[in-house]
Amino acid sequence: MAITATPLSPRFGAEISGVDISRPLDGETIQALIAEQDKWGVTVYRDTGLDDDAQIRFANYFGHLESLPPRDGRPRIYLFNAGNLGPDGEINWAESAMRYRKGDMLWHTDSSFMDLRTSYSMLRAVEVPASGGPTCFADTRWAYDDLPQDVKDKIENLECEHSLWWSRKQAGADITREQIEERHRPIHKLVHVHKGSGRKTIYAGAHCYKVVGWDWDESRELIDYLNAFATQDKYTIKVDYAVGDMVIWDNLAVFHRGGGFEWSERRDMRRATVREAPAPDHEDDPFGELFSNAPPIVAKA
Ligand SMILES: [Fe+2]
Repeated sequence: MAITATPLSPRFGAEISGVDISRPLDGETIQALIAEQDKWGVTVYRDTGLDDDAQIRFANYFGHLESLPPRDGRPRIYLFNAGNLGPDGEINWAESAMRYRKGDMLWHTDSSFMDLRTSYSMLRAVEVPASGGPTCFADTRWAYDDLPQDVKDKIENLECEHSLWWSRKQAGADITREQIEERHRPIHKLVHVHKGSGRKTIYAGAHCYKVVGWDWDESRELIDYLNAFATQDKYTIKVDYAVGDMVIWDNLAVFHRGGGFEWSERRDMRRATVREAPAPDHEDDPFGELFSNAPPIVAKA
């Protein structure tokens, strides 16, 4: 059966069928799937039959995976917990966990607070609440195309600082701007050419803190405008999950946000994450370093 892409909207997002991604794939099939991904920005695979190992194997076809190095007897981790369960497999009621997920409900692009950008995020549904928990996506390439020319001219060569703590502050975390500014803030171009499609796109979202060289008010006015512009309904789609589904999005072409669900229901979502480029040293531990330097309010709970 041939690989088929069924559009989820006229502009972006497609459901992919005709391929069993739970089995090892040949090079031609992998290239065809990457091409669909680069074109559509978001791809949805239903009822995949993937388990953890098969998800990791499939994700590796797309590039170098983000991971947490082995520590305290546990092995290297390639799948990030994007649900509401703790390490014991039970619902995690810690305030910090709930607040962290609240931050995910703001429009953002994964890991823009890291020096090495993330390209593809691959989220697999293992347990799905009856109350929902969709992911919404906004295509920032389409939004960029529609920006007024004077805005395009203004933002063409700008760079921005990004901070995880800024998005958490917006989600209600008690962090001061001073605390944010004591910490490393990676710098990324505000407009870049999306390699996969050759189209220009906006790289901002909820982690985007400040325009380099601009004052605070001016920065926020521009970033807030771009985030609001890019996430107008006409640029967005919503994807619901059933157990076994997996959604892949390209953080260099779309913004996303988590939809609401009842915290009292179990939600087990596992994410493999592909970097734009390989880490210079595979053994690096950027996430450990980031969290060891977290503001106290975040580290506490
Ligand atoms: Fe995310």
